[in-house]
Amino acid sequence: MPRKKHIKIAEVKKISNVFGYKDDNVFQNICGYFGHKSGFTLELGCGQGDYTINLAQIHSSKNFIGVDRKPSRIYNGAKHANEIKITNVGFLVGYAELLAEIFAPESVDEIWITFPDPYPRRSSMKKRLTHPRFLEIYKKILKNGGVVNLKTDDDTLYNYTLKVIEELGLKLIKGSNDLYNSSKLSDEEKILTKYERQHLAEGKLIKLVRFCF
Ligand SMILES: C[S@@+](CC[C@H](N)C(=O)[O-])C[C@H]1O[C@@H](n2cnc3c(N)ncnc32)[C@H](O)[C@@H]1O
Repeated sequence: MPRKKHIKIAEVKKISNVFGYKDDNVFQNICGYFGHKSGFTLELGCGQGDYTINLAQIHSSKNFIGVDRKPSRIYNGAKHANEIKITNVGFLVGYAELLAEIFAPESVDEIWITFPDPYPRRSSMKKRLTHPRFLEIYKKILKNGGVVNLKTDDDTLYNYTLKVIEELGLKLIKGSNDLYNSSKLSDEEKILTKYERQHLAEGKLIKLVRFCF
């Protein structure tokens, strides 16, 4: 492993806005960090937390948490948020699979899933972050009416997610297979992530799905 990455993994837990899924009382720690204000917006597979940080700048009275299993990626976002003095942002090093063990029922306002690994093979379908097993987890922690947003460049994941929504009888709020050539965009929808910039530079179309339970 490169030395820089090794250092980031060792250092990430020392950053004040970072929490680890293996920590004791992680949910209480998160609530304490945000001053016990209720309601969180999560970015799953946040990488270096572009959505988390930008959403927090748009909505300064709400709390935002980026979740990623890779501590070296979270390191960059967590440091950056502290450097630019954004206090309504936290990061959780952990797996989306464990969210219902960490967050209290109905404690989450909204979920963003930004450019997740598409897992195109049928054999790894269960790893897609919009597979029904993940949706069950999201449903537990989301408040009534809480919204899930998926942004992706991947056609298979986009169509798969629409199919899951239909099969489970969920409420589709928006489905666009070419976001930047569709209706007027909200400030939230315009946020770009590291991966999104790469996909746009390659001329790929960006897709958005928004739904609730
Ligand atoms: C393609 S990257 C996208 C990163 C960022 N959202 C962006 O758009 O720049 C996908 C991220 O999802 C994370 N990830 C994949 N599966 C995950 C899971 N089950 N739980 C938490 N993070 C996951 C990976 O570690 C990786 O950082």
